[in-house]
This record gives sequence, C-alpha cells and structure tokens, in this order.
Amino acid sequence: MTLRRKASYKDKKSFVIYFSRADENYAVGYIDKGNTEVVAEYISEITGADRFLVEPANPYAKDYNTCIEEAKERQAKHDAPIVESIPDISGYEVIYIGAPVYWGVMPEEMVTALKEIDFAGKTIRPFTTHEGSGLGSIPGQLKKVCGGANVVNGLAIRGTAVNTAKDKVEEWI
Ligand SMILES: Cc1cc2nc3c(=O)[nH]c(=O)nc-3n(C[C@H](O)[C@H](O)[C@H](O)COP(=O)(O)O)c2cc1C
Repeated sequence: MTLRRKASYKDKKSFVIYFSRADENYAVGYIDKGNTEVVAEYISEITGADRFLVEPANPYAKDYNTCIEEAKERQAKHDAPIVESIPDISGYEVIYIGAPVYWGVMPEEMVTALKEIDFAGKTIRPFTTHEGSGLGSIPGQLKKVCGGANVVNGLAIRGTAVNTAKDKVEEWI
C-alpha cells in the first residue's frame, strides 16, 4: 500500500515575518529571546525560509505590567511606528506571519508593517505564541490587514512550551 503524504509546505519558497519581545513576560519571567522568535527560527530550520523581525521604533518597557499598558494604548490609537519596513516579498509563495497575542490580537507594530505590503496572491500561514488565547482574533485580523491573501490554518503555541515545540511545528508545516 502506498501512503500518500499530505501536501507539505516544506518545499515552497517561504518567508517569515514576525514580532517578538524578550525581557519580562507573563509566566516565563525575564527571557533573553522572545517566544515567537523561537518558533520563527524553527520554521526557518524546517523550510529554509528567510526571516524578518518587525521592530518597534519605541521599544516596549522591559517590565511586563508597563508593557501591557503600552500595548493597549498603541492598539487603541493605532500608533505604533516601526524601525524598518518589510522587504520585497514578491519572490515568495508562502508567508508565515507570527506574533504574540497582545490583548487578543497582534501587537500594533505588526499592523503598521503589514499594511504597507501588497499580499495579493500570497498564502499566509499565521502562527502565534500566547498564554491561553490560542490564535486569538489574529487570523481574522490578518484577513483584513493583508487584503488579497489566502489566510490558511494557523498554529498556536503556549509561550511556556516553545522550547519543546519543534516537533509540533514540523508536523504543522
Ligand atoms: C502586552 C501583552 C499582552 C498580552 N496579551 C495576551 C492575550 O491577550 N492572550 C494571551 O493568551 N496571552 C497574552 N500575552 C502573553 C503573550 O502572548 C505570550 O507571553 C507570548 O508568548 C509572548 O511572545 P514573545 O515572547 O515572542 O513576545 C500578552 C503579553 C503581553 C506582553
């Protein structure tokens, strides 16, 4: 009997756009590398994808409690400038978009960065790290912000579990 492999994204020309913050975070204390960054690196290791980190022009506070207030305010005001725009993605077929869940959605800097880009005809695979919200409202948010893209099934990983999640990421891909 021949087993038919499910369609794999492994061989598609892929790019990863993500946001991640080190410093103090919920449930993990102070960390040197953000949780979403760990997952973004797994995706590159598995698919060979290039990566781009969206960086806030105004870094978030290192302590968690101040950071969540800053995040809420930036989302409410839609005011979140970034250091550098996303590079040309025209040569890529699949775009992995990763973010921590901030108040149910993406950090506002991701919205700033993604709004500038033409996603027509691209496949978007969302991934998040979180502490209970899963993907939150991020797939719906991506459908709105990245007009013309086909937003497909996403992957949500708990921030506290990223260091042992490579198999899960590989299975998803
Ligand atoms: C500003 C802020 C808001 C957050 N809001 C949520 C939330 O709504 N739901 C949730 O499950 N986790 C929430 N978290 C937890 C983060 O999503 C989680 O720790 C994530 O793994 C952080 O990723 P990073 O280390 O890549 O920045 C929040 C964390 C911060 C700092």
